[in-house]
Amino acid sequence: MPSVITNYQKIRSKTEELCQPLEIEDYIPQPAEFVSPPKWHLAHTTWFFEEFILRKYKKDYQVFHPKYSFLFNSYYNHVGKRTLRSNRGILTRPLVCDIYDYRKYVDEHMQDLLNSGEATDEISQLVTIGVNHEQQHQELLITDLKYTLSLNPLYPVYKPDYSLVSDMAAEDLMIPIDAGLYRIGADKSKKFSFDNEHNAHEVYLNDFTISSKLVTNGEYLAFIEAGGYEDFRFWHDEGYTWIRENEIQKPLYWHKMDGSWFQYSLEGLVPLNPDHELGHISFYEATAFAQWKGKRLPTEAEWEVASDKFKWGTRWEWTQSAYLPYPGYEIAEGALGEYNGKFMVNQKVLRGASNATAEGHSRKTYRNFFHPQHQWQLTGIRLAK
Ligand SMILES: [Fe+2]
Repeated sequence: MPSVITNYQKIRSKTEELCQPLEIEDYIPQPAEFVSPPKWHLAHTTWFFEEFILRKYKKDYQVFHPKYSFLFNSYYNHVGKRTLRSNRGILTRPLVCDIYDYRKYVDEHMQDLLNSGEATDEISQLVTIGVNHEQQHQELLITDLKYTLSLNPLYPVYKPDYSLVSDMAAEDLMIPIDAGLYRIGADKSKKFSFDNEHNAHEVYLNDFTISSKLVTNGEYLAFIEAGGYEDFRFWHDEGYTWIRENEIQKPLYWHKMDGSWFQYSLEGLVPLNPDHELGHISFYEATAFAQWKGKRLPTEAEWEVASDKFKWGTRWEWTQSAYLPYPGYEIAEGALGEYNGKFMVNQKVLRGASNATAEGHSRKTYRNFFHPQHQWQLTGIRLAK
């Protein structure tokens, strides 16, 4: 399985490459329940291969450490009890070097398995899920790290050339799409896709228009300056309560200092560029902004149908669609059935990808999902009408 092995090695080393700029102290803190420490991401992605592949398919495999499944299982009830999510940051032990040894141990056993005659199509499919899972964690590692470093008044630099901003916005056109029947979703017999993208199915769409570009910082600043956060007319009731209770008046990482706007980024604190694409916005804020503009967010079906006509991939774009199963969706048996299906309640779908998404990990049928209040992912706004 040479291509599977090459891909496995490439993606596993990419995760470690993302950690190269870190100091040892950076690997540990967990400032919020939704944020996981880098050490935990490094270990959990490794546990995934050990638990779902090596334990089951590698003859005489001995786990690296009997307690690691308890420490690094994220949410798989099938696998058993585990560390509370909120306790990931208290794990000062095992040491970071132990986790790198764990990665090495699992990688060596994985390569043995893939090189041996024991490797089957079933194993190869599980490896594909494992590497896609690791790519998802690569993005979380970066967004979680940004959240942690952002709380530090020294505004630490992760890497000097690592801005996650994208080019100046293109001209704003509202692209018209005709009403009709369209096919969305992924066909599971074709290239890899997650189960939440199945099945491909038809949807009827009414006429709509969708913006050729994402909302910029400057456009969002105009909303703030127009008193958008004080005007209840633009907000969902739940969103308005959320901004008042949490005293939210701006996107995450924005700072007003001596009358000028700055933004924390992974290259440190930088002046806010009004022409750059907006990021780190909650669904509530995205909707309020759209209301203020006399527009709305697209549905996920509208987004997918129109996506051949605009550039995407720099921000996860909030849609107004609830995260629900597609027609014919089936929860797989066993632990991996817990991967997506059990989260299909109270969350919103985001489409596209972001500047922090792993290379080769995006496609137009991809369905990301978060709760409406979350700002720490690289989220943005595209308007529709
Ligand atoms: Fe995971």
